[in-house]
Amino acid sequence: MKIIRISITIVLISMANLLFAGDGMWLPLLLKALNEGEMQSMGMKLTAEDIYSVNQGSLKDAIAHFGGFCTSEVISDQGLLLTNHHCGYGQIQSHSTLENNLLKDGFWAQSQDEELANPGLFARFIVRMDDVTDKILAGVTKDMDEKERQSVVDKNIEEYKGTLRLKEFHDVIIRPFYHGNQYFSFQTVTFNDVRLVGTPPESIGKFGADTDNWEWPRHTGDFSLFRIYAGPNNEPAEYAEENVPYKPKHFLPISLDGVEEGDFTMIFGFPGRTNQYLPASAVEQIVETLNPAKIEIREKALAILDEKMRADEEVRIQYASKFARIANYWKKWIGESQGLVKTKAIDKKKRFEEEFKMKNRSNPSNVSLLPQMDQLYKANESYAFTRDYFSEVASRNIELLSVSSILGRLVNRYENNGEDAYNGYLGRVKGYLKGFYKDYRPDIDQEVFAALTEMYVKNVNPMYVPDELKNIKGTKGFQMLASNLYGNSFISNEDKMMELLDLEPTAAIEKLKMDPAYMLSSAWSSMIDEKVNKPYNENKAQLDELQRKYMQAIIETFPEKRFYPDANSTMRVSYGQVNGYKPKDGVCYTPVTYLDGVIEKYVPGDYEFDVHPKLIELHESKDYGQYADTNGQVPVCFLGSNHTTGGNSGSPAIDAHGNLIGLNFDRVWEGTMSDINYDKSICRNIMVDARFVLFIIDKFAGASHLIEEMELVHPKGE
Ligand code: ARG
Ligand code: ASP
Repeated sequence: MKIIRISITIVLISMANLLFAGDGMWLPLLLKALNEGEMQSMGMKLTAEDIYSVNQGSLKDAIAHFGGFCTSEVISDQGLLLTNHHCGYGQIQSHSTLENNLLKDGFWAQSQDEELANPGLFARFIVRMDDVTDKILAGVTKDMDEKERQSVVDKNIEEYKGTLRLKEFHDVIIRPFYHGNQYFSFQTVTFNDVRLVGTPPESIGKFGADTDNWEWPRHTGDFSLFRIYAGPNNEPAEYAEENVPYKPKHFLPISLDGVEEGDFTMIFGFPGRTNQYLPASAVEQIVETLNPAKIEIREKALAILDEKMRADEEVRIQYASKFARIANYWKKWIGESQGLVKTKAIDKKKRFEEEFKMKNRSNPSNVSLLPQMDQLYKANESYAFTRDYFSEVASRNIELLSVSSILGRLVNRYENNGEDAYNGYLGRVKGYLKGFYKDYRPDIDQEVFAALTEMYVKNVNPMYVPDELKNIKGTKGFQMLASNLYGNSFISNEDKMMELLDLEPTAAIEKLKMDPAYMLSSAWSSMIDEKVNKPYNENKAQLDELQRKYMQAIIETFPEKRFYPDANSTMRVSYGQVNGYKPKDGVCYTPVTYLDGVIEKYVPGDYEFDVHPKLIELHESKDYGQYADTNGQVPVCFLGSNHTTGGNSGSPAIDAHGNLIGLNFDRVWEGTMSDINYDKSICRNIMVDARFVLFIIDKFAGASHLIEEMELVHPKGE
């Protein structure tokens, strides 16, 4: 650990020599030491203390983890929260029916009492963060094996948490960084009453849908508005009608001055996961084995859903969110694999590894880390493949099986923890199932089941095929199996399932255990646990240890380089500039798109590219008010060289002065490999321009009362 600290100091000295780097997701707490100088030299007018401070309101107090999967930011002194449309999608959809379709028509609460409650949704702020490495690694020694090490770490974490006296709704999260070489703690405060305030129709919020997803040029107004409510004294509280809008410690003013190429940008949020320090052998496995398997399964599931959704509007609403979720990573993996090949990531890593070995020639234990990892990745390949295949088929794409496995967990509660635990969990399961059945079509799921189980049997080593699927032959065979299973299972039928769950636990469990879907799901997953997950996890534990040592060795070997920790859903800052890019020879992308481009893409009646008549009208009358750019057009999206990943959606794009200029929501297709191999030349994040957000709220929706809550500023004095 000392070594990492030393290297941080060395980095400071050598920083002046660095080119402007777009890569890196940095810890707000370490900006002063690692990044402030570079950020200021790129144009930032703030200090590290303005961004992160424990003692006074700072930018970080405006940033909230949204539901644990996206980012959001407070944009008024009344707790108004901005995030992406695709982040609020589940909530927007849950308030939608055929008659009152918020997805299609949009929604704008005319006053605060029309704002819609969202049980289960939370907004979580970071109160403070601390480096707790010394405390958490106290007593850890070099010769400990992994189990021993982990138990010391776990004990230290528990002890540390025990020393903190936390108020209700406050918590502390401790996470490993640099693959376990450092630990940071995050004190959080969570608000559970978060209401929907407004959303544009899908034709704006999801314009271009899956065709345009992960693509530039982009014209999506991917935003929605929520509001945080608090109980007495501005403290968090469970939902209650009498709760009042939360008064934040800080909220972001919004710039009306827009962006131009080269402007400083900063993205503040909760990036989920990256893997920048994998060995070449692991990347090779992703490109050659794991991504292709996952892509092929989703392709099949999507083809079935697409056909059904196009044929029936009700199905389209029911499956819109699920389809988008499946399609999103399907397309991401394709782009990621292509990008890794195109940027020659594997060769680059191999060259890096050669250099690492050279520099460590007098340190055989460092040199041996790489071949050990290579060997373990090889040994784990068929387990990793089967695991992914199983999880894609049974947990992510066949709904009947994923629900069966939730029911399996309910049964486990009873068998391992008794009736009280069962009853405690039952409420949650019932709540989940209520939402599930609202959007469930067993006939469609049955088709997915038949197609995907057939693929599984065809592509997975017969050793890992459950007996129930072993002797099924041909497409017809799988269709018959599916039809029997869905015809006889309670689980595919809401009434029967709910009735079953009203029985005494023993009776309910007895019935469940006779259910054919339940039986298949539990036999299949126990077999996978035993034959695949167990050996996989044993190898993985060794790999984790090696990766930790490798990470430390890299940092020691290249003291002149600055390494950022992989994303782990903790709060980070990325920074870069407004920047176009060249995706391929002869093509050059400019960094800003305009409303004119929306009209260019317009396909009347199309489910991806239809344009709302009101928007067409505004475009014709050029009624843009204060939201137009200097060229007289309304900007829609812009690009930057900020390093982002999943979880950064909804993150604010912040200008040199700390104002909101945009809302992050995506990356460009060519650069989706940034999770594994960030490459400055083609990795770009995509943001909605803040002026487009304001234009839609004001001119399109006429919700000027919301604009009045905000603070609009002119930092460039324009
Ligand atoms: N690609 C973006 C992200 O990973 C946006 C996804 C939502 N849109 C969609 N069409 N699925 O979350
Ligand atoms: N669209 C992603 C998200 O939802 C962001 C990304 O992967 O770039 O977090």
